Amino acid sequence: MAESTVTPAELKREVARRRSFAIISHPDAGKTTLTEKFLLYGGALNLAGSVTARKDQRTTTSDWMELEKQRGISISSTVLQFDYKDCVINILDTPGHKDFSEDTYRVLTAVDAAVMVVDAGKGIEAQTRKLFEVCRKRGVPIFTFMNKMDRPARPSLELLDDLENVLGIHAFPLNWPLGDGPRFKGVYDREKKQVHLFERTPKGAFKAAVEVSDISDPRVKEKLDSDVYDQVTEELELLDGAGADFDLAAVAAGELTPVFFGSAANNFGVQLLLDRFIELAPPPAPRTSAGKTIEPTAPEFSAFVFKIQANMNPKHRDRVSFVRIVSGKFERDMNVYHTRTGDKVRLSNSMRLFAQDRETVDDAYAGDVAGLVGNHDFLIGDTLSTKKSLSFDEIPRFAPECFAWLNNASTAKFKRFRAGLSQMLKEGVVTEFTPIEATGSYVPLLGAVGPLQFEVLQHRLQGEYDAETRIEPGSWSLARWLKKKEGETLEEDRPEMSMGITLVRDAHGYLVALIPSEWVLNTFAEKNSDWIVSDSPFPP
Ligand code: G4P
Repeated sequence: MAESTVTPAELKREVARRRSFAIISHPDAGKTTLTEKFLLYGGALNLAGSVTARKDQRTTTSDWMELEKQRGISISSTVLQFDYKDCVINILDTPGHKDFSEDTYRVLTAVDAAVMVVDAGKGIEAQTRKLFEVCRKRGVPIFTFMNKMDRPARPSLELLDDLENVLGIHAFPLNWPLGDGPRFKGVYDREKKQVHLFERTPKGAFKAAVEVSDISDPRVKEKLDSDVYDQVTEELELLDGAGADFDLAAVAAGELTPVFFGSAANNFGVQLLLDRFIELAPPPAPRTSAGKTIEPTAPEFSAFVFKIQANMNPKHRDRVSFVRIVSGKFERDMNVYHTRTGDKVRLSNSMRLFAQDRETVDDAYAGDVAGLVGNHDFLIGDTLSTKKSLSFDEIPRFAPECFAWLNNASTAKFKRFRAGLSQMLKEGVVTEFTPIEATGSYVPLLGAVGPLQFEVLQHRLQGEYDAETRIEPGSWSLARWLKKKEGETLEEDRPEMSMGITLVRDAHGYLVALIPSEWVLNTFAEKNSDWIVSDSPFPP
């Protein structure tokens, strides 16, 4: 297949200037606000507020968006792209509701770094922890933003301890807050040894004024209450005394998180974060295909599908497959192989999303995300490339934690029910398990990472396939893949079962135990020491 006309130097330059990341946080920590401020600094918004406005006033008529509107949450992830200084920034939005879904996790396979927003008044919260774990498993560099310093915050040293003790990641504060709550006056940049004093602006709607000076500058002392000044200088001495150097290699390996303090709503510290982030965060990383490293600057185009969304716009009745580009140059109308099937596909309708608007993508490079519109037969995890032999294995499967039987409410509509469910399984909205002990009638048993996935499933079956369904929750909370340690697993070879465990097979035919609780799991694992019990599906 013809390779693109881009020169190696051009490719290298484009790759080097890309930064693709997700902002992760517990709901309400300030992810939307920070995203909006990044856009403001990127010149993509003149006046901050439109992302938040989008959050509150969803006016779209799409069925899909209808559910978001009803629930006031963001289910579908949007990719925002803008230029900042010499960089092209891609922010992949991760849905931030407590009922998050597998979609959130998948988005994190497509990023090269993450910015973790923590509400400094609350510290590390449950969902931050979950998302953090997914990033850490992949070794993604994580940058921490301690937000809402304009409100009473927990002591800064304690917040650092939380990172170390709760998340188990070393923390290195690159800047340090000067007070908190009403006495928050700015931050001290520990690298440049400069103080940034901030002016409060009405609603933080404009870029905050910044005044830079040294900590010993009398104006700094004047601005701060004397006890705050004393505390800050003491803390800074303590941090310097700890003596650890800032280790960029440890950041790249996801073992150390650079920490920034500020207030997204007031623009305190946002630019300091963004500027240092683009310097420290890595450009697009290489990925592996069948054990071989594919560099982002490799001449062949390659990408993997990390998200599929159907019927985003009822007027179009289309399906969008989101691909993360791994190497080469994407050009509209290019021909590529869909490497799982070996089919050739022309990528004629590609788009980029900005809020509700679509914009055609003509070219893109490693780190970028393109939405491919059309009824392609892509599945999550599929590879597209000008090279037929490439196949990325980037999308891990996550063990479901919620289970339910899906009942078809109307026999007359069984065909639609089947067709709809089959589409949703393809898109990875939920996964299906087949019980080993057959039951008489066909009632699919489904698994999901979060209960919201079932709600989305039902809503979409109704809206897109006119199939009404009833959900009957199962009592399990864990799925574990099973494999005999020695030798082949015979059909009749079963682990010793008890305590409400149900044996099923996943879509690939692997044996899975659905288990009611952690306690039952431990007992089960003890009793069946000749079995491997794993929380991740065994590779085919
Ligand atoms: P999320 O996307 O992580 O869920 O959080 P979001 O940005 O929507 O912020 C949640 C709330 O926290 C918002 O208030 C937002 O204004 C506020 N917030 C964000 N950053 C800061 C900050 O630095 N300081 C303070 N004091 N508040 C902050 P809201 O009342 O829910 O919405 P709104 O009325 O402000 O729009």
